[in-house]
Amino acid sequence: MGKLSLFIWFVLLLSTVGFASGIGANWGTQATHALNPEIVARMLRENGFQKVKLFDADDGALRALGRTGIEVMVGIPNDMLATLATSPEAAKKWVSKNVSTHISTNSVNIRYVAVGNEPFLETYNGSFLQSTFPALQNVQSALVRAGLSNQVRVTVPLNADVYESLTGVPSGGDFRADIKQNMIQIVKLLSDSGSPFTVNIYPFISLYTDANFPVEYAFFDGNASPLTDGSTTYYNMFDANYDTLVWALQKNGFGNMPIIVGEIGWPTDGDRNANLGLAQRFNQGFMSHIGDGKGTPMRSGPIDAYLFSLIDEDSKSIQPGNFERHWGIFMYDGEPKYSLNLGSTNSGLVSARGVQHLEKKWCILKPSAKLEDAQIAPSASYACAQADCTALGYGTSCGILEARGNISYAFNSYYQIHNQLDVACDFSGLATVTKTDPSVGTCKFNVMIQPYYGSAWNWRHGYLQGPFGLALGFALFMLTSY
Ligand SMILES: *[C@@H]1O[C@H](CO)[C@@H](O)[C@H](O)[C@H]1NC(C)=O
Ligand SMILES: *[C@@H]1O[C@H](CO)[C@@H](O)[C@H](O)[C@H]1NC(C)=O
Ligand SMILES: *[C@@H]1O[C@H](CO)[C@@H](O)[C@H](O)[C@H]1NC(C)=O
Repeated sequence: MGKLSLFIWFVLLLSTVGFASGIGANWGTQATHALNPEIVARMLRENGFQKVKLFDADDGALRALGRTGIEVMVGIPNDMLATLATSPEAAKKWVSKNVSTHISTNSVNIRYVAVGNEPFLETYNGSFLQSTFPALQNVQSALVRAGLSNQVRVTVPLNADVYESLTGVPSGGDFRADIKQNMIQIVKLLSDSGSPFTVNIYPFISLYTDANFPVEYAFFDGNASPLTDGSTTYYNMFDANYDTLVWALQKNGFGNMPIIVGEIGWPTDGDRNANLGLAQRFNQGFMSHIGDGKGTPMRSGPIDAYLFSLIDEDSKSIQPGNFERHWGIFMYDGEPKYSLNLGSTNSGLVSARGVQHLEKKWCILKPSAKLEDAQIAPSASYACAQADCTALGYGTSCGILEARGNISYAFNSYYQIHNQLDVACDFSGLATVTKTDPSVGTCKFNVMIQPYYGSAWNWRHGYLQGPFGLALGFALFMLTSY
């Protein structure tokens, strides 16, 4: 390392010490065109993020975070839990390759290892119920053996329904009865190793799944009818939910355990309650709420949190809902979606620098094409299945489109995701390329960014097949759909 870079690193390190808690961001990479990690690392710094949470231990991301001083939480995906649970040797290798090496050779400031991601979600049907604890145990032992257990802590990011309140108020909080033994095992290990409890809290999901959820209670501006719990009054869902966890921990003998809010945020599209205005209201409200450092009624002091999320991810599963691809405070190309004051910079969000877009051209339904054409419907649904149509539908940013606009939107999404290859704008001759932006009002027809070839991400998702693969895929689809 040169003298200058050593100096810069030192300055960065110093500048983070004073604000040890600060705000963090979740950096997920389930995108057809993930940004270059170097660009993302700079974007994190320029926006004043002091912490980042990853969902795996991608080599490119970790290299880019080296010497930035940013605190890193690396993640172990759920599909690795079974292996790590049964093999201490696999855990040792994981820690050696994905933690030790990055700390010693790249100066990555790794502070946490997240073992699994919401492994107890009910949609997983208990698949990870038995493997989470032994995997956590093996990873913790591997950290101890690597001499890292004082600087790197283990944790398990859990969804907030691992606890509940049978009385409907926070003081009734306890771990869910059906998984209580699993939870106690985990919490005891966290406590013994000086590790935090990590929970993801989502008022948006409560609103999405429960039509009767009081909307105002999701926000922080105090317009909701308050919830009374003994002598305590709750004005927002976040505080009540967080304190339900505090009560659950306290009741089981872990009243002092540190808590990390692993994910919190609001999506901007894909649902009638997902838009720029509400996302800004929620995220800015949250930042102001934690900005005073006072904490919640049950737990005073700073709140440690990671916003969900940094950037939109256009290939996330939409099984939970169409909003899944729109959690970013930044768009897919690193442009801020709305103004947000994160506390450390007064000027709002700063765009990612050095991002290259493809040419300004779009793929649309030919004006001469007839809506009655039998190939239109299957072509549009094929495009949507392969690409991203989550901005279409009731109450979304493109909800105002008529049928022709809908089809053009689908064609364009497919075309952009395939890097504007000519064969990706054909659809049996129904489509054509235009240089006139078809965007209308809130409905943006995107132009994709240049693919980033420096990592395995894009290849892994298989989006870079050549023209032949594309044409063949579509031909096979058309043949089999008749
Ligand atoms: C390190 O992490 C990566 C990314 O999550 C994973 O693919 C790889 O298997 C891990 N390495 C080891 C030795 O477990
Ligand atoms: C969970 O069970 C349901 C119903 O039995 C099934 O449809 C679903 O695919 C299962 N999910 C997983 C992740 O195993
Ligand atoms: C446009 O597409 C969305 C989502 O597929 C659908 O809900 C809507 O009805 C479509 N609108 C028209 C006019 O076809």
